[in-house]
Amino acid sequence: MSAVHTEFLSASNAARLVARTGVVECLRLMADAIEADFSRWQDFDKSARVAAHSAHGVIELMPVADATDYAFKYVNGHPGNTRHGLPTVMAFGALADVATGAPRFVSELTLTTALRTAATSLMVARRLARPGSRSMALIGNGSQSEFQALAFVSLLGVRELRLFDVDAAASAKLLRNITPTLREHGATARICDSTEDAVRGADIVTTLTADKARATIVRADMLAPGMHLNAVGGDCPGKTELAAAVLARASVFVEYEPQTRVEGDLQQMPADFVVTEFWRVVQGLAPGRSSDDDITVFDSVGFALEDYSALRTLRELGRRAGLLESIELIPDLPDPKDLFGLLDLSARPEPSRHLRRA
Ligand SMILES: NC(=O)c1ccc[n+]([C@@H]2O[C@H](COP(=O)([O-])OP(=O)(O)OC[C@H]3O[C@@H](n4cnc5c(N)ncnc54)[C@H](O)[C@@H]3O)[C@@H](O)[C@H]2O)c1
Repeated sequence: MSAVHTEFLSASNAARLVARTGVVECLRLMADAIEADFSRWQDFDKSARVAAHSAHGVIELMPVADATDYAFKYVNGHPGNTRHGLPTVMAFGALADVATGAPRFVSELTLTTALRTAATSLMVARRLARPGSRSMALIGNGSQSEFQALAFVSLLGVRELRLFDVDAAASAKLLRNITPTLREHGATARICDSTEDAVRGADIVTTLTADKARATIVRADMLAPGMHLNAVGGDCPGKTELAAAVLARASVFVEYEPQTRVEGDLQQMPADFVVTEFWRVVQGLAPGRSSDDDITVFDSVGFALEDYSALRTLRELGRRAGLLESIELIPDLPDPKDLFGLLDLSARPEPSRHLRRA
């Protein structure tokens, strides 16, 4: 007989954990963890995520496993949600033992998704952005944007941000939230009048817009030699940000090709359009940027392995900080074959007595 202990990181404890650890330190730890896991890509049982589409958005399940840990994330993307007081993206997920299937860790993943997405963008830009890149356009200034801004300013050396959003209040919010970090690094940020204005002359262009449409945020005539595009918002069928001609002119890098072909900006290109899975660059099997003039695109859609890395990083940090709770998710059965015996509630203690702080 052995009870299943499941650790839990709530949304408010995750916020405490990230605030105490420091957003930048979390981004650094996650980028390193994701890169370490990409460097052992072959160890993982991978699949494209399973998506349920509706007129309003998408709900997705994202599983991945190595020989020890199974991870999954539930995540949605509903661009109209903010009009109803809900975030566009909400998520939670779990880690389970592969050997027994026992769920060991359940966590919020809304805040964590923003961290892991920015950490992945950072990991990729470290290898693909032109060395010495100093300016970045940030188009779409919603929930994800601070995390991308902090990653690129604090950990990649960007010193000039150009912000644009169709909602001026979103840009003002972003500027307010990142001002202390900008000051710390002697960096500047300017709110621009248009995407063209923001992108002109930028070394890096990050697109983070939310619109369930085949949008064209970046056109080919906005490109300049040596640019790196970190295209994050085009992440499901019928939802794109880059003109097809942008991809045609660039070296395109993806997370997991079968998923990105369907979900990424890549959905606009023919099936034989050549892309590179980024793990091949990490493992030295494929070149990254070929020259200072090369235009590189990271067609980010978000892959389950990044959530696996993020979940394991958070669990470790949460344990050290004493911020994990213990939840009773699986019944504690004195006889594992007697599930029915669980119904004899009179013989069992009140559920609240099972809840304890870890
Ligand atoms: N690739 C990934 O791993 C990943 C992870 C998380 C989120 N996402 C995607 O990133 C996007 C941003 O997510 P979020 O949580 O920040 O959403 P959000 O709704 O909080 O912010 C999106 C912002 O984009 C702006 N916008 C919409 N259309 C625009 C346009 N044409 N030009 C300029 N700005 C425009 C909106 O006004 C809004 O402020 C979403 O599309 C989401 O699905 C991708």
